Amino acid sequence: MEILNILGSPRKNGTSARIAKAFAETAERRGADIYSYYLNGLQYRGCQGCEGCHTRSDKCILRDDATEILDKMYTADVVVFSTPIYFGDASGQFKLFYDRMWSLIGPEYKKDPENASRLEAGKIAVLILAQVARSSEHEDVLDRYTMYLEMYGFKVLPIVAKGLDMMPNTDISTFAMEAEQLARELVI
Ligand SMILES: Cc1cc2nc3c(=O)[nH]c(=O)nc-3n(C[C@H](O)[C@H](O)[C@H](O)COP(=O)(O)O)c2cc1C
Repeated sequence: MEILNILGSPRKNGTSARIAKAFAETAERRGADIYSYYLNGLQYRGCQGCEGCHTRSDKCILRDDATEILDKMYTADVVVFSTPIYFGDASGQFKLFYDRMWSLIGPEYKKDPENASRLEAGKIAVLILAQVARSSEHEDVLDRYTMYLEMYGFKVLPIVAKGLDMMPNTDISTFAMEAEQLARELVI
């Protein structure tokens, strides 16, 4: 099983990264191949809206560090997307990459939006969100990213770490356990 681990927080050992690590390490112990990408350390641009991926090419025509990650989406069985909540949305690093995923949608999206993904249907997306807020305050973020991931054909399994402290070393053990359990269920 191939697992793509996309880390959207600038904090390498922050809360979302450690939850993703708990998932990845458990999955790796069970035989999965893990490919991790720390977005903050990569050089890539946001989507230019050029529509080159729907006219001139079947891929994003930008060539940078996001290219390899986008290519890996085709072969991955599971993609872990993790991000902190920044001002009611994903981090800037995460959003910049996420927009590039537009190239994974085929040109038929207007006629048949339900079947527009260039990815094989049925891949799993583990969506890890980390936030200070305890309430349902950022549920729109989960709903929105779930909706778009479903458009790509992913089945979305969320882990929402609420009520965290602002500090990177905050205790995330409950959510790490949730991630480990999920990895055990997915990598049999
Ligand atoms: C610039 C910035 C904006 C933030 N905005 C929010 C927010 O809107 N809602 C919230 O609950 N937490 C917010 N936080 C707190 C982070 O989401 C929280 O600390 C999270 O655990 C960080 O995840 P990380 O350790 O993976 O980076 C913000 C933090 C920063 C630095």
